[in-house]
Amino acid sequence: GVNGGLDKVILRGHRRSSVQVYLYGGQVTSWKNELGEELLFLSSKATFNPPKAIRGGIPICFPQFSNHGPLESHGFARNRLWSIDADPPPFPTHSPNKAFVDLLLMPSDEDVKIWPHRYEFRLRVALGLGGDLMLTSRIRNTNTDGKPFSFTFAYHTHFAVTDICEVRVEGLETLDYLDNLKNKERFTEQGDAITFESEIDRVYLSTPTKIAILDHERKRTFVLRKDGLPDAVVWNPWDKKAKAMPDFGDEEYKHMLCVEAACVEKPITLKPGEEWRGRQEISAVPSSYCSGQ
Ligand code: BG6
Repeated sequence: GVNGGLDKVILRGHRRSSVQVYLYGGQVTSWKNELGEELLFLSSKATFNPPKAIRGGIPICFPQFSNHGPLESHGFARNRLWSIDADPPPFPTHSPNKAFVDLLLMPSDEDVKIWPHRYEFRLRVALGLGGDLMLTSRIRNTNTDGKPFSFTFAYHTHFAVTDICEVRVEGLETLDYLDNLKNKERFTEQGDAITFESEIDRVYLSTPTKIAILDHERKRTFVLRKDGLPDAVVWNPWDKKAKAMPDFGDEEYKHMLCVEAACVEKPITLKPGEEWRGRQEISAVPSSYCSGQ
């Protein structure tokens, strides 16, 4: 089929809710609510051909976000084959009544030539009873040469929206951001909420832990909560860039918005033996439940 025979794991939750995770990239490609409605955007032109990354869902950007460093765009975790971690160390905060899978990424000898460090990257993908999707990353420095390493990170989450022109994002107003369309220059957000009428590619800095994405047409609100990830990326390629991407439909930009829990401005540094943890939790609720919040 179109997925080129790549292995995936399916988590099933209450009623028709589910999550699909590819071992390639450790990438979530589908998240459905109890009614079986898809909540994530996956391009109809997405290719499932390594080493190309899958366009849509939730690619993991590690050890570099975007072009903020010398590595390929968004680092390499999104185009490596992860394995299932059959015996993960305990997660103290995890409640047992959820469907989840634990994945593991460790560098190959080839990877060490690109980024000269050893690590264990454990990713837990969990589907909650209320249909919420939780991603928890634990990254440990396992260098034996005594060297620390630094990285930037993002959960590159593509939300499915009905009409980008009718979407607003709340929780980022008055914040400073780096504008990737203007040489990563720093600006301050002036608007009440963020709305969309052209290409956007920004890193909002030190944001609140809760961000809301309101899909007015669909009367649905996505709530993103994050921990250990101070920044938030907002991206939509709009028409011109959409046309320039071979694995992205010309009109698809109208139906997606990336809002990403991230750590970009101040890289995370780990000494050998140290572990970092970063979490993103997303839920989707009917908008009427959110009014007045
Ligand atoms: C976004 C970045 O997160 O991802 C953009 O902010 C980038 O700069 C976009 O263009 C897509 O990146 P890629 O490598 O998947 O085409």
